[in-house]
Amino acid sequence: MRRPASCCNRLRPYRVAVPTRVRDLTDPDWWRTAAVYQVYPRSFADGNGDGIGDLTGLIDRVPYLAGLGIDAVWLSPFYPSALADGGYDVDDYTDVDPRIGTLEQFDELVAALHARGVRVVVDIVPNHSGSGHRWFQEALAAGAGSPERARYIFRDGLGEHGEQPPSDWVSHFGGSAWTRVPDGQWYLHLFAREQPDFDWGNPEVREEFHRILRFWADRGVDGFRVDVAHGLTKDLREPFASYPRISRDVLKDDGTDVLFDRDEVHEVFRGWRTVLNEYDPPRAAVAEAWAAPSRLPLYARPDELGQTFEFDLVLEPWDAVAFRRSIENSLERARAAGASSTWVLSNHDLVRHASRFGLPAGTDLTAWLMSHGTEPAEDRALGLARARAAALLLLALPGSAYVYQGEELGLFEVADLPFDALEDPIWERNGHTDKGRDGARVPLPWTPDGPSHGFGAGGAHLPQPGWFAEHAVSVEDADPASTLNLYRRALALRAELPAGDGARFADRPDAVEVVRDGGWRCITAFGAPTVLPEGEVLVSSAPVGDDRVLPADATAWLRDPA
Ligand code: GLC
Ligand code: CA
Repeated sequence: MRRPASCCNRLRPYRVAVPTRVRDLTDPDWWRTAAVYQVYPRSFADGNGDGIGDLTGLIDRVPYLAGLGIDAVWLSPFYPSALADGGYDVDDYTDVDPRIGTLEQFDELVAALHARGVRVVVDIVPNHSGSGHRWFQEALAAGAGSPERARYIFRDGLGEHGEQPPSDWVSHFGGSAWTRVPDGQWYLHLFAREQPDFDWGNPEVREEFHRILRFWADRGVDGFRVDVAHGLTKDLREPFASYPRISRDVLKDDGTDVLFDRDEVHEVFRGWRTVLNEYDPPRAAVAEAWAAPSRLPLYARPDELGQTFEFDLVLEPWDAVAFRRSIENSLERARAAGASSTWVLSNHDLVRHASRFGLPAGTDLTAWLMSHGTEPAEDRALGLARARAAALLLLALPGSAYVYQGEELGLFEVADLPFDALEDPIWERNGHTDKGRDGARVPLPWTPDGPSHGFGAGGAHLPQPGWFAEHAVSVEDADPASTLNLYRRALALRAELPAGDGARFADRPDAVEVVRDGGWRCITAFGAPTVLPEGEVLVSSAPVGDDRVLPADATAWLRDPA
C-alpha cells in the first residue's frame, strides 16, 4: 500500500542527502560488527499528526536512518497493545498496532530499509503477553484447570479462602507479582498486571513462538531482540520458594535461581536457533538478559541466540580504570562464547547517558528524576562532552554497537516531565515514588519549531522541552560540530576501517587506549588531557590542537603511521 503523496510533506526540512554504501544483505555474519540503531516507534516520527509515532513517519525518515551509516534498525514493539508498558504488553504478536500502521506498511518499511542496505531487527517479548491477548482472554473465560489457563501461570491462593497470593514474589514494577481474577485464582506477572507471564513448560507456548519467529522471518526480518530472555523459565515447584525482592545481589549464578536465568531456558533458545537457521542467511538474535556476568555467554552460544547485551558499561562511572576493566571483561565473555560483544550506553529503559555523565558519580537517578532533575544539578556541558567521547569509544570497539534514538542528537534525559504526563507503569505501581522511564522516550525533535518540533503535524504524546529545539535534526545537520555529524563521521569510518576481532589496550594514565588490528587506535581521555601519539586524527569528539593535546572527557581515533 502506498502512502498518499501529500503525506508528511511538511516534515521535509530535516532531509539530508548523505550517500550510503549499500551493504551486502547476504552476509550471514553481519550482526557481529553491526551498528544497530534502536527505534522506539511511538516516539520516532509521527506521519499522521495524532501525536504517536508510526510506520509512515518511519518510512518517511528512511533516508535519515540510512544516512546515519548504521547497519540495522531495531524496532521496539509496534504490535497491538493496550500500552500498559509502552508496547511491551503485546496483544497480538503477528500484527501491527492500528495506531502505528499496518502489515503492508511494515513490509514497505522493510523493503525501503533493505533497498538502502539497512537490516531490520524486531523486538520479541516472550516472557509475557499483554492481558488483551486472545490467549489470556480465553484463559480468563475458561476457568481453573483448563488447557487455556495452562498457557499462563494460574494458581490458587494461600490462606483459608485463597485470599492471599500464592507466593511472596514481587513484580519488577512494584507490588505483588500475582493478581487475582474474579473466580478466585491468581496469575503471575513479573511486570505489570497487564503482562501475564507465559508458562514456558507448556509445549504449546514453545510452538507458538516458533510460529511467531517464522512469521517475521518470512517477512524479511533479519534479526530479533529477545526481551527478558533470562525470565522465561521459573521454578514452579510448590510450595513456591520465597523470593521477596528482585535484585542483582540475590540473583544466583548457578542456574538455580527461582525466577531468573535458570538452566532450562537454554533449551528454549536452542529451539529458537533451529528455527532461525531455517533461513538463509540465518536470522540473528540478541538476548536482553540481566543475568550474572559469568552466565551471559550462555545465551550467546552459537547454537542459541548468538549475542547477548552487555550492560556493564551502563553501570560504570566515568573513570578510565572502570571503563577499561568493564570493556576487557565484556570482550573476554564474548570470546568465551564464540560470540561478539555488544556495546550499549542508552536504551528506552535507561536514563540518557548525556545526563548520567553530567551528574556526580553515584547519583540516585530515581531521586534525581523525582526532583525533576534539579537535585543534584546536571552539568550538561560535561555530560555531553563525555557522552560524545563515550560514543566514539564504543564505536571503536570490536563487536556490535547499539545506538538509541536521540543519542546521536546528544539528547539529555527529559527529567522535568510533569507527574500527570507520565505513561510508564512504574509511576503508578510504585505509589508515585518513581517517575520511571518516560524521560528517555520523549518524541524526537526534527526541526527547531513546529507543533512538536517536527515530530509530526500534531502534538507529541509526551511533552517536549524547549531545549529540544537546539538538538533538532535540521539544526544539527547544518552544524559540522554537532553530535549528529560526529556520529555520522564515526559510523562512516567504522564501516571502512578494519573490523577484526583483535583489540589490545595500551597503558596510558587516566585514559583508555584501544589498539585495533589493521593500524588504527582509539584514545579516550577521562579526567585529564592526554597527548596523542603520531598518526592522522580521523575523528575526535573535541578539537585537537596543533600540540596534539586531546582534552579531558574526549576521544580521538587515529590511523597509525605507515
Ligand atoms: C524489557 C524492556 C522493558 C520492559 C520489560 C518488560 O526489560 O526493555 O522496556 O518494560 O522488558 O517487557
Ligand atoms: Ca501517528
